[in-house]
Amino acid sequence: MVRSLLPVLLALFTAACTPADALRRPTAILTAPAAARAPDPHSYANTDAFRTRHIALDLSVDFASKTLSGSAELQLQRLDRRAATLILDTRDLDIRAVQAAGADGRYAPASFTLDAPDAVLGSALRIALPPGAERVRIDYATRPQASALQWLAPAQTTDKKRPFLFTQSQAIHARSWIPLQDTPQVRATYAARIRTPQDLVAVMSAEFDLEAPRNGDYRFTMPQPIPSYLIALAVGDLRFRATGPRTGVFAEPSMVERAAREFADTEAMIERCEAIFGPYRWGRYDLLVLPPSFPYGGMENPRLTFATPTIITGDKALVSLVAHELAHSWSGNLVTNASWNDFWLNEGFTNHLTYRIMEEVYGADRGAQERALGASDLRETLARLERDGDKTLMPDLAGRDPDDGVTDVPYERGALFLAYLEDRFGRARFDAFLRGWFDRHAFQSVTTAQFLDELDRQLLHRFPGVVSRAQVDAWLRSPEMPGDTVWPRSDAFARVDEARAAWLAGMPARRLATQDWRLRQWQYFLDNLPSSLSPRQLAELDTTFKLSESRNAVLAARWLRVTAQNAYAPAYPAMQRHLTSVGRMSLITPIYRELAKTPAGLETARRIYREARAGYHPIARDAVEQILDQPAAPAKS
Ligand code: BES
Ligand code: ZN
Repeated sequence: MVRSLLPVLLALFTAACTPADALRRPTAILTAPAAARAPDPHSYANTDAFRTRHIALDLSVDFASKTLSGSAELQLQRLDRRAATLILDTRDLDIRAVQAAGADGRYAPASFTLDAPDAVLGSALRIALPPGAERVRIDYATRPQASALQWLAPAQTTDKKRPFLFTQSQAIHARSWIPLQDTPQVRATYAARIRTPQDLVAVMSAEFDLEAPRNGDYRFTMPQPIPSYLIALAVGDLRFRATGPRTGVFAEPSMVERAAREFADTEAMIERCEAIFGPYRWGRYDLLVLPPSFPYGGMENPRLTFATPTIITGDKALVSLVAHELAHSWSGNLVTNASWNDFWLNEGFTNHLTYRIMEEVYGADRGAQERALGASDLRETLARLERDGDKTLMPDLAGRDPDDGVTDVPYERGALFLAYLEDRFGRARFDAFLRGWFDRHAFQSVTTAQFLDELDRQLLHRFPGVVSRAQVDAWLRSPEMPGDTVWPRSDAFARVDEARAAWLAGMPARRLATQDWRLRQWQYFLDNLPSSLSPRQLAELDTTFKLSESRNAVLAARWLRVTAQNAYAPAYPAMQRHLTSVGRMSLITPIYRELAKTPAGLETARRIYREARAGYHPIARDAVEQILDQPAAPAKS
């Protein structure tokens, strides 16, 4: 009862606190419940006083000095008429000048201070705003160590001819290249002018002319309001190929044809997703294939997913990543986690949608394989994590780097929770519930409490006796997986289990029926080997299946992890090659983590890392250094 009144009270309260002119603007109404929301522990921004509505960037890209320089103009909505200080997030920025303007747009210098940096949050930029000011313009430059930026020399690209730059703003790295309110509770539209060397092309998570001349001067507009972590830029020698009426791919020249073939099913994925979850609201959906140091598999930058080249395998084996980043167009980009503590609302929902799309486009078992691999990753992660809170869907990341919350838990536990609800309430009903969730909260940020409230009202109360509130709470808050978890099963994987068991019982590897195995089956075979194997067994697998020679980075990563676990030195040259040529974190950290478990392994890991470090993104360096600098790890002899 109390809970069902809450949204009404919130709406009244917010309406009372919102200036009348703001209420006329649709985005102001859409982001309403801000006033009653807990502040974001990962932002200094005083969002109760000001909210950014539009950002205009004018930036020059200088590869020689590894800096972006220029200006950011923020158009603000004032929530507090008396507020005199605007607080923005920054990290490692050189602030050159700040100006403020009122409604007439006439700028005058504004005074500002930059706080001492906090290791996680960066430095608060405090700007003194005269009464009535609703725009600020900040002239600034980034520093070479900006955590969002990777500046690549030609040798670090696929084609090795020209330099490359890309951004990675999620979770809280946007502040290292733009001074802004770096919280997913604030949404803004943006426009940008990007000046680059003449022979390079700039692309952004925005609308732009696909046929613009290559002249070093590029313009972008993002007409839908988005959170700061989705602002993205890449600059390089890029070519474009269409893959459908509203889909296409950008990549370096030698990669673009292969990429277009790999991603040929993207339009089919969009159509299936639209049929279940509602319209795709972003216009185009393109992919950008990055150089191999991209630290993630993919990043759902709106209109332009950023992706690792390691998913281009020639047989569409890894296109679930496209399904995943595309699904974020609903869960994440349209309906956004209000803080990084609610991250499962982005990633758990997205994995649920991913599995649905894979089933729809490629058949039930392909979806089941993806689910089963995710579930087995989750079991391993739960066994490794130390803090109980991190095993739940409601971690407390305050005071910690939100990137530390990026584990299999929000992704796979979140997806298993939604699969459980789907199983209990039925697919049709649950799909309709999700579609309603996306429609009602389109272009808003949402909290776990809001999700629970709607789940309660729309499913738990309406269909009593199906799932209790206590069961839901266990899913969200218990470090243990609930006893009634529906663990996924795949027929293709059942055959892999048989083959693995036969081999472990003594059947020679060459007699196993592996001829028609696809990548996911190999992955499942390797991931579920016993933790200890003999050198003879490993040599047999390697010579029979040529695992160390594999050019598929996902397969190589899984195999090399097994060899690290067993200190199998004959595979170390391949390991060194892999770790120095790929920077995608999920393909390197599991290997480093295995190596770091023994003193000798740690030494090998540190030696390889010394060579690999220069090629890794700042975010990947942080992740690897956390593993190699563990206080528990024995010191190097
Ligand atoms: N949004 C994430 C990547 C991310 C999360 C970056 C948190 C920074 C902070 C992206 O959608 C993602 O989940 N990528 C996965 C892909 C996979 C689950 C298919 C990845 O990179 O491994
Ligand atoms: Zn994701």
